[in-house]
Amino acid sequence: MKPDRYAVVGNPIGHSLSPSIHALFAAQTNQAMVYEARLGRPGHFAEDVRDWFRNGLHGLNVTVPFKEEAFRLADHRTARAQRAGAVNTLWAEADGTLTGDNTDGAGFLRDLSARMGLDPANRKILILGAGGATRGLLEPLLHAAPARLVIANRTPERALELVASFAGLAGATHLEASGLDTIPDGPYDLLINATAAGLGKDALNLPPGLLAATGLAYDLVYGPASRPFLDWARQQGAARVSDGLGMLVEQAAESFAAWRGIRPDTGPVLREIRQTLEAP
Ligand code: ATR
Repeated sequence: MKPDRYAVVGNPIGHSLSPSIHALFAAQTNQAMVYEARLGRPGHFAEDVRDWFRNGLHGLNVTVPFKEEAFRLADHRTARAQRAGAVNTLWAEADGTLTGDNTDGAGFLRDLSARMGLDPANRKILILGAGGATRGLLEPLLHAAPARLVIANRTPERALELVASFAGLAGATHLEASGLDTIPDGPYDLLINATAAGLGKDALNLPPGLLAATGLAYDLVYGPASRPFLDWARQQGAARVSDGLGMLVEQAAESFAAWRGIRPDTGPVLREIRQTLEAP
């Protein structure tokens, strides 16, 4: 029997770790599938994706810069994709229509709680950035009932918009917006960098005292792009820092589970991917 076909689309896509991650999941769970990287063509995304599924593709991951286009393309969307306003996972239904899901937020929460051992309940959390990445985190984070959740953004209006659209999910959480220069006093238990990847060293210019002595600093991106923020956090005395590689593996596992109905063990896969990434 021919293996089922999956892919990830983005632009650029050359350095994507998703093919390696899914190959490890497939081997671990004995799934007959192949997974490859495909370069997306700006302006032709929808037509290309429809073509790929017509030609037998089973499922697709979508990465930068196509997640919003994938959201518009999907015929049906899961509730969490609807909330996120973006789709990173697509699959074809029996009638050929496409369902869009978003596994980023769930992947982040799982990495945070299962690997880092941080339960957001009653904690104080600061998110830097108010773009698509932040939007994807808000529903699962609010669901976990932190005491306070501040969204700080260079353009404060975007943070305010997010607060307005998620206010209904805040429950007892104090949800608020600020500019980067008007961040309410810390200390915060969790500081998340969700601004654009690879900001220069002084780009954020954050005040001291934001992080609690036991605090965790988490950058959603991984590898060298996460270094300036994580170095800054270490200088600030962060008890722990993490890049976003665990989130990448966990969101992949969520996609894999949606496609295959089986959840891979992410621990060994994360270790192997980390070794590959750090190999000289
Ligand atoms: P994503 O989908 O990755 O979140 P995005 O929607 O383009 O991407 O959002 C990028 C985020 O990084 C925004 O919060 C942006 O701030 P603005 O809303 O003010 O543009 C933030 N960002 C990008 N470059 C930045 C910089 N040099 N300093 C501070 N924030 C920056």
